[in-house]
Amino acid sequence: MTRLQQAIRKETVDRPPIWFMRQAGRYLPEYMRLKGDRDFMACVKDSDTAAEITLQPIKRLDLDAAIIFSDILVILDALDLNVSFATGAPEIGHVLKDENDLNRRVAEYDAGAMLGNLGYYTETIQKTRANLDPSKSLLGFAAAPFTLASYMIEGKTSKTHAKSRAWMYGTPGLFEKLMDYIATITIDYLGLQIDAGVDAIQLFDSWGDAMDTESYQKLIMPYIAKISKEISKRVPVIFFCRGASIHREALLPLYDQGVSVISVDWRVPITIFGDKPVQGNMDPAFLLSNPAAVKEKVTELLEKRGKTPGYIFNLGHGIYPETPMENVESMVRTVQEFSV
Ligand code: CP3
Repeated sequence: MTRLQQAIRKETVDRPPIWFMRQAGRYLPEYMRLKGDRDFMACVKDSDTAAEITLQPIKRLDLDAAIIFSDILVILDALDLNVSFATGAPEIGHVLKDENDLNRRVAEYDAGAMLGNLGYYTETIQKTRANLDPSKSLLGFAAAPFTLASYMIEGKTSKTHAKSRAWMYGTPGLFEKLMDYIATITIDYLGLQIDAGVDAIQLFDSWGDAMDTESYQKLIMPYIAKISKEISKRVPVIFFCRGASIHREALLPLYDQGVSVISVDWRVPITIFGDKPVQGNMDPAFLLSNPAAVKEKVTELLEKRGKTPGYIFNLGHGIYPETPMENVESMVRTVQEFSV
């Protein structure tokens, strides 16, 4: 059993496990070197490159979990929706237009065809697993339903998610049909990752802070639960919600609906869910300060939540590309030298 799996099960560990969102990426000089001027999706689809990038932060920092180098939008690429990262920011060619468009996609969904387009993903997972120490976890992931819906409707990273919210508020029945479709495709997509060898899954609700809590409870959480109930039959589910600081205790029922761990953003106290398993939540901007300030903040978090079982150290959101390595090292070392 890995340290991460032990923490998920609320077992006593020698120290909390640590990994962090976007750990495989641009703050790492070896990532920049290996990627060179290749396109992001080309690297994701080259399983040797993707496996090597996945392992880079483990080799350098001895983290407790690797997360597959891929993206939440890969599923849209596998559905032939014309996903591009040519400018750095994602763009989806075929945005979701209306009810007819959704109905057609639901009717034409072919799981075999989608999974057939993801052969490289299976290979990346297998190649990573083969080179990952058995004491480490390997995480697969997907977007949570609202976050994926936003990309499908807006076609890019939206600041307001206005069109998506308009679907949600103006045509809730249609919005729920979309949530259900996303749950179906996500369960298949995560199933492929589990078959290939990941031992836990994280769902990313990066834009889970875009709407009011009642709408989140009524129109979105049932579909997070649908995915989590199904996936948790096979591996544990970590649910990251950038809106944890807005929805707060309203998220609690998810712990009885297949979610093992809630990963919270940096705007709430890490003790918000009592002794339930939790992940997070240092503000990634702390890593733009200096090693001593980082050490102090990490120690504070560990004192608050690291001494009781069911804690995974992480950031409150992804690491910023401009983060100095000495601050990352200070964070990781502080966790690794802590004893409960
Ligand atoms: O290390 C890891 O966490 C694993 C790999 C990973 C990536 N994206 C690689 C990536 C993961 C887990 C993601 C998830 C993801 N992708 C999310 C959810 C997490 C979050 O940050 O909220 C979201 C919203 C996306 C969508 C996305 N992908 C955007 C908005 C962008 C462009 C902005 C940016 O951060 O670069 C991407 C591109 C992307 N995904 C890169 C990486 C390493 C940068 C590509 C590059 O230039 O090398």
